[in-house]
Amino acid sequence: MSANDVRLGVVGTGYVGLTTGACFAHLGFDVVCGDIDQRKVDLLEAGVIPIVEDGLEEIVRDEHARGRLRFVLGSQAAATDADIVFLCVPTPQGEDGSADLSYIEQAAREIAPVLKSGAIVVNKSTVPVGSTIAVERVLERDDVSVVSNPEFLREGTAVSDFLAPERVVVGAADLAAARRVADLYASIDTRIIITDPASAETIKYAANGFLAMKISFVNAVAAMCEHVGADVAAVVDGIGSDTRIGSRFLDPGPGWGGSCFPKDSRALVKIAADHGYDFSMMRGVILVNDQQRHRMVDKVARAVGRHPSDLSGVTVAALGLTFKAGTDDLRESPAVAIISDLRTVGAKVQAFDPTTSGELSPIQMRTLANIEVVSEIDEVTDGADVLCVFTEWPEFADIDLEQLAQRLGSGSAIVDTRNLFDPERVKAAGLRYDGVGRR
Ligand code: UDX
Repeated sequence: MSANDVRLGVVGTGYVGLTTGACFAHLGFDVVCGDIDQRKVDLLEAGVIPIVEDGLEEIVRDEHARGRLRFVLGSQAAATDADIVFLCVPTPQGEDGSADLSYIEQAAREIAPVLKSGAIVVNKSTVPVGSTIAVERVLERDDVSVVSNPEFLREGTAVSDFLAPERVVVGAADLAAARRVADLYASIDTRIIITDPASAETIKYAANGFLAMKISFVNAVAAMCEHVGADVAAVVDGIGSDTRIGSRFLDPGPGWGGSCFPKDSRALVKIAADHGYDFSMMRGVILVNDQQRHRMVDKVARAVGRHPSDLSGVTVAALGLTFKAGTDDLRESPAVAIISDLRTVGAKVQAFDPTTSGELSPIQMRTLANIEVVSEIDEVTDGADVLCVFTEWPEFADIDLEQLAQRLGSGSAIVDTRNLFDPERVKAAGLRYDGVGRR
């Protein structure tokens, strides 16, 4: 089977759908992406992508110009004529912590009547265990197979994660359909794991749960380091040298956030509970993450010599709003959550982020409605008592500390929730310093 013989449809052009569609076009497939938002479709057809994602815009432009990538309105237009249709619609968190399947089910309902006989529908969105079967039920098409092919894309590096994955997971009851989906990745040098749908769906949740656990673990170790006078960097170096542990994904910080870990870790607890298992370890991972956010508020209070329950009259300069560097995504950002907590106890917060210095998108405006966002980095320190680093943007690390000390006033403090600065240099500039788990 050559790429030219297979036509792909993608439903949903968010982070996952757009990356999937563009990268498959880059691999040589003919791809049609559908979205319900006409404005977004128009933008994409004009070669403008609505998100910050390294390398994606170039691929979208190139493949669109080559005629291998098109954007259309609606799921049906994407699915008609497609041999394989990827469902990449959101699965937001429902009120009880479970993943809300209504978008997936609606997309399946819409495409059911237009799917070619012999087509394959692929669940790429992170879906609860059992969703492959749920989509089959909604489709009511005996001549169409449903396959699970979870994504493991990180925002900011989604294109390279797609084109050079550490593994591809395909889950299906129909082995022939699984092989056809696996074949789409034939030109990529990677390990392909073919399994049943429930295992494929569980792999996605377990992977995110384990990664969240690593960060909660190191954040808990960092807290311990502060109590016993140890240094977390030395501890991570020491434990990370053991290849069974590894040193990657062990950077302490303000807690994990983003579009996946918070929602998937809660969904994992809920799915387990629904099936009669109390996943207490995962509950602990979430609890530690919540505590980490409170610990950051405590640090700010300590830095200004106040009790964390009352920060009235304190002005906090916040550097960073996105949930990590390299993305403009504010979803479940620890920065936004901590700023909200600081405001609740009376602090005035002024924030700067490189992705919010221009005109704000409607989503940014909604998320940041109650936060004073400044457009120049120098403005953030105006009248501030303490500076907090929330996102590890590399440009923050290059800030001239002497100038910063002049603007903040000597003796002021930096609370560095990403351990971005060298504490000695901060102190040499005349500022006090508090990081995470640093001696
Ligand atoms: C994650 C998974 O990595 C990816 O495989 C999955 O498909 C989607 O969810 P993403 O949400 O883009 O990707 O971000 P990631 O880079 O994994 O970081 C998640 C959060 O953990 C961020 O808030 C980040 O700042 C934090 N983090 C990460 C740490 O605090 N320390 C680390 O060492 C790594």
